[in-house]
Amino acid sequence: MSDTQRVEPAEHLRGSIRVPGDKSTSHRALLLSGLASGKSVISGLSQGHDVKASRTIINQLGAEVRDDDGDVVVVGPEEGLRASREVLDCENSGTSMRLLCGVLAHVSGEHHLIGDASLSQRPMDRVATPLALMGATIRGQGEHCTAPLTVSGTSTLHGIDFLVPHASAQVKSAILLAGLYAQGETIVRESVRTRTATEDMLRTCGVDVHSTNVGSGRVVTVRPGRPQRRHWRVPGDPSQAAFFAVLASIHHDATLEVLSLDASAERVGFVSVLQRMGARVELVERSGVTALRGETSMLHATEVHAHEIPSVDEVPVLSVAAAAANGVSVFRAMDELRVKESNRFEGSLMLVRALGAKAWAEGDDLFIEGLGSAQRFQDFTFDGALDHRMVMSAAVAGCAGRGATIQGAETITSSYPTFFRDLTLLQ
Ligand code: S3P
Repeated sequence: MSDTQRVEPAEHLRGSIRVPGDKSTSHRALLLSGLASGKSVISGLSQGHDVKASRTIINQLGAEVRDDDGDVVVVGPEEGLRASREVLDCENSGTSMRLLCGVLAHVSGEHHLIGDASLSQRPMDRVATPLALMGATIRGQGEHCTAPLTVSGTSTLHGIDFLVPHASAQVKSAILLAGLYAQGETIVRESVRTRTATEDMLRTCGVDVHSTNVGSGRVVTVRPGRPQRRHWRVPGDPSQAAFFAVLASIHHDATLEVLSLDASAERVGFVSVLQRMGARVELVERSGVTALRGETSMLHATEVHAHEIPSVDEVPVLSVAAAAANGVSVFRAMDELRVKESNRFEGSLMLVRALGAKAWAEGDDLFIEGLGSAQRFQDFTFDGALDHRMVMSAAVAGCAGRGATIQGAETITSSYPTFFRDLTLLQ
């Protein structure tokens, strides 16, 4: 069943909100707690269904997981995770599936991983190939090793030295997680610096991991070691804050704040892009935590390269900002947009056109000619096509413009179940 959501234009937007716990940190906190021996505590875990999928799976693999007064307690089995006879359902979550491939590569037995219609189309060869070089066996469907997957765990993994061909934190992370139980050192090289949640969190729980910046990229080395249990505190998700940053910038009467965020360099590239477009958005420090402030702005076009926003998660909503700006914006080297929860390259083109602005593609570059500040987006209908970020981008446009009718809106539950409620709270 596909839910249709109507978003009405907001007269004004005021106030502050908290977005869900960072999705990347949440998945890793669960996996690392499951790998550790004994009781870990996670505060601020994302309530999205993607993270719930990881939670259910580590429980199936032998970790005890329970809610405890707003926190989540994970008790990792002393003898380590073990294979489950049940199928492991990653639902819509690419992060669950890819990171689990790395974890399960060293858990003895056969592991069967499935996903929903969207995840079952996403390429898993990008993790299966390096993990095979480490000695793991991952079988999937067709040319790109799509789900359903069977991972055959082995205790004889060995370290590799691998250059990740795509800018992908998930691939880097899968290799590093397999490296925890491999013989010798594992080295992952990336030519674009992607989010550092895995290496940062591994370091925090006592694993020997080193990162060195090399040119525009990075080399990460991990030595085998078992993560130690600890108390994880998950910051707010900056990729969710991006929706409100764009909303504030393009709305005619807005002053908003998003509280308590992960503001690591690889995650907040969208703020610099918006500032370059003339947006009055900024990251501010509040008692040691970062908040994002945004207000009504006059935007002009800019040129964005994929390496500025590695993982390109914020491009769909930035394309809405570009559709409101004066002039022609260009988003370069956006090929990775095609292999996300949906084809976000096509989705962003369709969304911008639905708003009444012009958009076209040249190879992997996306061009958007904005309406400019004199005009508002038209009322439009849009199909979110199983993709939470496309739905939320459309909602931002509808709220700032003349309204929107969004099909497939229930998919926001994968990362931000209370998104529409929070949007209303600001009005
Ligand atoms: C994520 C990495 C990114 C991002 C995804 C979360 C992670 O994917 O799109 O939402 O937690 O490692 P890629 O690895 O494909 O860039």
